[in-house]
Amino acid sequence: MEQDLILIGAGGCMRELLWQIEELNVKEPVWKVIGYVDKQPCWKGNTSDISAGGIRCPYLGDDDYLLHIQKETNVTISVGEPRLRKKIAQKLMNNPKLKFPNLIMSDTRVCSDIKLGQGCILSMGCKISTNVTLGDFVFLNIDSLICHDGTIGNYTTLSPDVKIAGQVTIGSECAIGLGSRVIQEVKIGDHVIAGAGSVIVKDIENPCTVVGIPAKPVEK
Ligand SMILES: CC(C)(COP(=O)(O)OP(=O)(O)OC[C@H]1O[C@@H](n2cnc3c(N)ncnc32)[C@H](O)[C@@H]1OP(=O)(O)O)[C@@H](O)C(=O)NCCC(=O)NCCS
Repeated sequence: MEQDLILIGAGGCMRELLWQIEELNVKEPVWKVIGYVDKQPCWKGNTSDISAGGIRCPYLGDDDYLLHIQKETNVTISVGEPRLRKKIAQKLMNNPKLKFPNLIMSDTRVCSDIKLGQGCILSMGCKISTNVTLGDFVFLNIDSLICHDGTIGNYTTLSPDVKIAGQVTIGSECAIGLGSRVIQEVKIGDHVIAGAGSVIVKDIENPCTVVGIPAKPVEK
C-alpha cells in the first residue's frame, strides 16, 4: 500500500529523488510525497512548490515542523553532503514518531542477504552484491555498484557511477566522488573525501581528501 513520505532538503538531490519516486510508482504506487521541509521555502516564480516530472511537492515548514509532529511519519533526508545529513538526522531522531525508511528505487539489483541500517537511499540503477552491510543514512547515488562482502559506514555518500570492488570497507561520513573506483580489499577510514574520477588502490586510514589515479591526498 502507498505510504506518505516527507523529503528534507530542497536541492537538486531532492528533485532527483522526486523523479526516481515517480519512476518507482509507475509499476505500483509505493511512496506518496506529501511535501518537503527546509529552513525556508524555495521560491520559483510565484510558487514555493518543488516539482520534478509529474510530482509536485509543497513546502511544509522547517525542522521544527517535523520535531513537533505527533503521528508516525516517514521522512527521507535528501541531502548528499554527509555531515549535513548527519546533523539533520541527529536532530530529527529526537522525535520518536519520525521513521526513516530505506528507499529502494526502481531498476536496482540488490542481493537478498544484504544488511541495511535505516534511512538509506538506494538510487536507480544501484547494484549490491552478496554479504554487503550498509550503516544508517547511507546514500548510494545513481548507478553505484558494491561488490561482495563490502561494508559502508553511517552517513557515507557514493556519488553517481561509483564502483566498489569486493571486500572493501568504507568508514562513516565519507563522500566518494562521481565515477570513482575502489579496488578489492581496500580499507577507507572515516571522513574521507574522494574527488571525482579517483581510483583508490591503497588503504586510507586518516580523514583526508584524495584525488587522481591512483588516488593520492591533495596537498594543502
Ligand atoms: C576533490 C574535491 C572535493 C576537491 O575540492 P577542493 O577541496 O575545493 O579542492 P580544489 O578544487 O582546490 O583542488 C585542489 C587540487 O586538486 C585538484 N583536483 C580537484 N578535484 C580533482 C579531481 N576530481 N581529480 C583530480 N584532481 C582534482 C585541483 O586541480 C587542485 O590541484 P592544484 O592544487 O594542482 O591546482 C572536488 O574537486 C571534487 O572532485 N569533488 C567531488 C565532486 C563530485 O563527485 N560531485 C558529485 C555530485 S553528485
